[in-house]
Amino acid sequence: MSTSRTSRLSNYAVLLLALTMVGGLYTAFGAPKSAATEQAPQSLSVEDGRRLYLQGCSTCHGLDLEGGAGGPSLVGVGASAVVFQVESGRMPLAFGTVQAPRKKVRYTTPEIDALAAYIQRNGGGPVLPTGSLTDGDLQEGGEMFRTNCASCHNAGGAGGALTYGKYAPSLKPASARVIYTAMQHGPESMPRFGDNQLSVEEKKAITRYVRYLMTAAQPGGNDLGRFGPVPEGLVVFLVGIGSLVVLTLWIGNRA
Ligand code: HEC
Ligand code: HEC
Repeated sequence: MSTSRTSRLSNYAVLLLALTMVGGLYTAFGAPKSAATEQAPQSLSVEDGRRLYLQGCSTCHGLDLEGGAGGPSLVGVGASAVVFQVESGRMPLAFGTVQAPRKKVRYTTPEIDALAAYIQRNGGGPVLPTGSLTDGDLQEGGEMFRTNCASCHNAGGAGGALTYGKYAPSLKPASARVIYTAMQHGPESMPRFGDNQLSVEEKKAITRYVRYLMTAAQPGGNDLGRFGPVPEGLVVFLVGIGSLVVLTLWIGNRA
């Protein structure tokens, strides 16, 4: 074996060793912690929920959920309403507006569940059903969505304006839990869909459909913000007819 060949081989060996060490160091110190280790303990108690409530909510909703100048009473609103408000980042409210906006979520899922359990224990109210929230029938969900929700949220789920500065938001950021609890809770000007208006199965079907609608691929090319046929037609009209007009003018000028 020639010396140059040996030194090339040992160069490879050094490189390999260095890479292994970097990899090892990265896993030991640098790698982001897996979601499981980062989250708070898996399950918190109702007592933890009370503590979180006193810290983050009681200034507005009262020390005993009785409500006050800053916010309504939470007695009897139920766990479902809490999951909706906190998991969509609407609560804790930062400042008064016509409609509490969606914000960055402030609590982990176990914390939200603890808050919900605490508020549920004081006065009851609607709770989330057990099991998967998205195992309903997709097609039925689509029909139910167009009948019950599209008038405000738009057939594509993009949302739309309502009266007096209120709006039905886009459904894109909503988790399955937020979609399901929105129907149970009926926030702001959204109607409440109790189990006798839409059964648990129907609500699960709608939840599955909304998640599907907002995450499905676009086989027909880019959507134009999912605002529906009228704005999309307008874009086609302006861009399509517009370029034809320009082309005609150009041909006319040349002649
Ligand atoms: C700065 C005051 C403020 C803080 C802090 C606050 N809220 Fe609220 N909350 C409000 C107001 C005002 C409303 C009603 C506004 C609305 O419906 O958009 C409300 C509504 C709610 C509702 C819906 C009640 C119903 O009857 O529909 C729930 C549930 C709720 N808050 C839970 C919480 C929880 C849980 C926290 C703590 C994590 C919290 N809020 C923190 C002011 C506050
Ligand atoms: C009359 C109009 C109206 C109808 C009908 C309606 N909604 Fe809503 N929806 C609203 C409004 C207004 C809000 C915002 C409430 C708030 O900000 O507190 C909302 C909020 C939501 C959200 C929360 C979105 C987020 O920010 O994560 C979801 C999910 C939702 N609606 C789903 C539905 C579904 C599913 C249906 C049909 C079963 C439906 N809505 C029917 C008006 C409506």
